[in-house]
Amino acid sequence: MAEAVALLAALRLQLDWGADEALAELPLDRMVVRPLSPPLAAPAPPLPPGAEPPAERPAAARGLVRPALVASPLAATPAGQQAAALAAGADSLDALREAMACFDGSPLRETATNLVFADGVPDSGLMLVGEAPGADEDRLGRPFVGVSGRLLDRMLASIRLSRERNFYITNILPFRPPGNRTPTDAEIALFLPFVLRHIALARPRQLVLLGGVAAKGLLRSKEGITRLRGRWHQVTIKEDETLPALATLHPAYLLRNPGAKRDAWADLLLLRSRLAQE
Ligand code: URA
Repeated sequence: MAEAVALLAALRLQLDWGADEALAELPLDRMVVRPLSPPLAAPAPPLPPGAEPPAERPAAARGLVRPALVASPLAATPAGQQAAALAAGADSLDALREAMACFDGSPLRETATNLVFADGVPDSGLMLVGEAPGADEDRLGRPFVGVSGRLLDRMLASIRLSRERNFYITNILPFRPPGNRTPTDAEIALFLPFVLRHIALARPRQLVLLGGVAAKGLLRSKEGITRLRGRWHQVTIKEDETLPALATLHPAYLLRNPGAKRDAWADLLLLRSRLAQE
């Protein structure tokens, strides 16, 4: 009890001093003494007459260009390798859910309440991929059950699709990022093996990518969603397998920008006409 009172007092002190927002997912003990960063390199000594100057390191090695998601150095990290191995070892959707629940390579798991795996009909032939769970999804462990999910359900109902009968839905991240922040490139890359395995196991005939994070992650494109939307693309699921994918606006974006619903409607018509051709 005394400890709880002391902790509350410490929290109150932080609030009084203006520290009212968490900037990182895990606490960082700033009282720990860390080694100072290495001093800046001393200027190179003058070259002897006639000597060749050393070749300049490539821009990527000097950190001047951002590596593309596909070439993410994360794949070589223990967490990246664990994600790839767990995803590859899952031979059913249930096994994949289990594997994702066991994956401990991301701090997002520590701050989330539930793993949010998927909802809808896995073998419907149509799979929608969103961004990441929000507060409602995290609480209930199901994707798209909050305000934007309700808008999405109404939009799809307008072309006679429902998650009880006609589609399957998941997210790029299975855990809620704290404060609903946008997933980082590193988080998207880390969970990509699970998303690709999820798609391979559900075997949809078409994908719908909801918003910029899903489009960026699965199309590996640097273009924004406003350029990518309204067109069918190909998503590479495995080395020798691609799937048609329609990129469209995220329903949360539509809630903030109702004027964009006209574009979303045009995208829905594209989806409807493709499904009608099946
Ligand atoms: N937004 C998403 O992208 N996914 C959800 O599950 C909920 C909101």
